Amino acid sequence: MSEGKARAACQGVTKPWGGRFTQATAGAVEAFTQSVSFDRALYAQDIAGSKAHARMLARQGIILQAEAETIVLGLEAILAEIERGDFVWRPALEDVHMNIESRLVELVGEVGKKLHTGRSRNDQVALDFRLFVAERLDVWRRGLIALVRALTGQAKAHTATLMPGHTHLQPAQPVSLAQHLLAYGCMFRRDYERAGDATRRTRVSPLGAAALAGTTHPLDPAFVARELGLPALFENSMDAVSDRDFVLEALFVGSVIMAHLSRLCEEIVLWSNPGFGFVILPEAFATGSSIMPQKRNPDVAELIRGKTGRVYGALISMLTVVKGLPLTYNRDMQEDKEPFLDADRTVSGSLELAAGMVSALGFSTERMRRALGAGFLNATELADYLATRGMPFREAHGVAGRAVALAEHQGKGLEDLSLEELRALSPLVEADVFVALDYDTAVARRKTPGGTGPESVAAQLATVDAWLAAEDPTPGKFPGGPAEVG
Ligand code: ARG
Repeated sequence: MSEGKARAACQGVTKPWGGRFTQATAGAVEAFTQSVSFDRALYAQDIAGSKAHARMLARQGIILQAEAETIVLGLEAILAEIERGDFVWRPALEDVHMNIESRLVELVGEVGKKLHTGRSRNDQVALDFRLFVAERLDVWRRGLIALVRALTGQAKAHTATLMPGHTHLQPAQPVSLAQHLLAYGCMFRRDYERAGDATRRTRVSPLGAAALAGTTHPLDPAFVARELGLPALFENSMDAVSDRDFVLEALFVGSVIMAHLSRLCEEIVLWSNPGFGFVILPEAFATGSSIMPQKRNPDVAELIRGKTGRVYGALISMLTVVKGLPLTYNRDMQEDKEPFLDADRTVSGSLELAAGMVSALGFSTERMRRALGAGFLNATELADYLATRGMPFREAHGVAGRAVALAEHQGKGLEDLSLEELRALSPLVEADVFVALDYDTAVARRKTPGGTGPESVAAQLATVDAWLAAEDPTPGKFPGGPAEVG
């Protein structure tokens, strides 16, 4: 909303907190301080929290059962209005909480004013945002599962596809494409675990902390937590209203996800360059150039890489908001929502597109194999061959280096040198050296756990499959999901 519009929309509304005020808020102040233009995203969590609070108030005898029922029905009517698009959001009422509460009073009358008993917007907003962030972490985890599935599907199809593995972006040793893709699978599984871990600390109910010190009303915060499916409760009211660690953690989790996505996307960008030619970008995930007819640009991969900065920015922004805040609630904390909402759009959207893109990638196995021939990727094999025959590895490394220089000079690969040429470098070389120099053999022999050999890759695939089968992407089933609260 423009500032002008926001100002116009603010005129003449009585503030729920207006009791001790005699003058109207300046229009510019209302427009500057309002959060409803973005925190309306929390409407469902706000209504769920208020319903639980109303039920608890009645259970504790603080309001009548009939009053709680009226309040709950009113809140449900508001939910329906919002979802139909009929709800009128008023910036003069500042935020999602006061917009909903004031509509409740309009709908159910005076009894609506009892809802806020024993509660403050300080514990209310903390609750709403915790519920919201926990739900989004679940969405990220579902996105991570889909991405791991996509990577695993491609890995299964490419256990026998060999390609150059790199260090320093220089050809290093032959690996299978499956091994390369499964490395990303490991990263995204760790991200999933990290998101689950952050979820456990997010799913803590702060309701009952009230403004900062708790309340004189005989509340039952554990009942509210149970109603909302939150497995844990705040320990200290001052911490409960001022803690935003859960936002920091979620943004850190999102930042690591984006860092991993960005690495994957960087490889897709490189591999789709004709110089590499390892992947064929599916047309649905590529764009053309308005001037150069030959282009097939990896824009999706580039944008995911580019959007990574927004999520890092959100994390830094939130770390900076929290730094130096005295206890307890400070309005600065309202600045937690926009960065998170933006980061969430970026993380969930990027995960979804990355999974789709990975499943649709075509790999040019021929180009990958051809690339093995350039770069002496079997030089380590020659050194290992000599070491197995008793030459100290450091010395073997030197001999293999001289063989590389010789082959390079002749413009060929190590495997193209003659037995005599190799024997001239070391008499330990025999005819079976050519078996060792073969790329398939080099990969097949890497049987160490986690290595690129086919047995190891098969074991890794079995581990990922078991992991995928065990992770039920139903929110309630996630670790950190609802459990009994005492
Ligand atoms: N919009 C506020 C926020 O997001 C809600 C809490 C306001 N509390 C207060 N005491 N002003 O932080």
